[in-house]
Amino acid sequence: MLEESGVPDADFDSLCLIGHIFNADRTALILHGDNLADGALCRRFFASIEERKTGKPLQYIIGKWNFMGFDFLVGEGVLIPRDDTEAAAEKALELAKLFDKPKIIDLCSGSGAIAITLGKLIPEAEVTALELSDDALFYLKKNIELNAAGNVTAVKGDVLEDHKLFPDGSFDIIVSNPPYIVTKQIDELQRELAFEPRMALDGGEDGLFFYREITAKWKTKLRSGGYLVYETGEDEHEAVRDDMIKHGFENVGYVLDLQGYKRVTFGKFSI
Ligand SMILES: C[S@@+](CC[C@H](N)C(=O)[O-])C[C@H]1O[C@@H](n2cnc3c(N)ncnc32)[C@H](O)[C@@H]1O
Repeated sequence: MLEESGVPDADFDSLCLIGHIFNADRTALILHGDNLADGALCRRFFASIEERKTGKPLQYIIGKWNFMGFDFLVGEGVLIPRDDTEAAAEKALELAKLFDKPKIIDLCSGSGAIAITLGKLIPEAEVTALELSDDALFYLKKNIELNAAGNVTAVKGDVLEDHKLFPDGSFDIIVSNPPYIVTKQIDELQRELAFEPRMALDGGEDGLFFYREITAKWKTKLRSGGYLVYETGEDEHEAVRDDMIKHGFENVGYVLDLQGYKRVTFGKFSI
């Protein structure tokens, strides 16, 4: 049914939905796959298949997704954590370890995937997770609770204005996966994306709006020697790098993702 309605990876999705509804992982399916299934659960399963057929993302139907070993609650209104984002979280993790009790801020934090992962993997860190959308903040706060990430604080704030709330030199690491899709391209992408908040995707006319704003407005919030780490969209690294260099960042580099895109752009701020 999923295949016929054009769902990519229909096998994977149906296995995930079976696992979710029947509470059975791959091993349980092998061991108990010939048991008669409960009728009520079957109806729920087929209802979930109907939902998926509309293009609703698998993760919203399941309500939870894993990112770097941690569970995150997700639903309409918050961006689903992507595997692509692991590269930025890994780079921030590596750089944060250069500091004693690092102070980190995750701008445009969404579900908290980056902030909470860093908070969990560096227990002595102090992590601020800044997010503007109330819907996303709802999940961010729940995810802090779910993961018992006591060193992560959710702050409602506008990345374009609320740098003013923090004194200069407040952070060792600023990490961000901001909205970065070119406005005109959003509607041409996978139908699943239409279910995700536009505010999480729209990076303006050239996709680079948030990078320019964040680099200019937040750079002095880094202590001298602190790092800015971005997830960057395909083909955006060069422009983001040039802008960071213009603003005084040094050692500006990138990290490739598994597909060979320059997925992370990072640099050191020195005054
Ligand atoms: C691409 S999503 C990233 C979410 C999360 N960091 C992740 O990696 O999964 C961008 C996030 O930026 C938030 N956002 C958009 N405009 C914002 C603004 N002006 N201030 C703060 N957050 C904003 C969106 O609500 C969304 O949660």
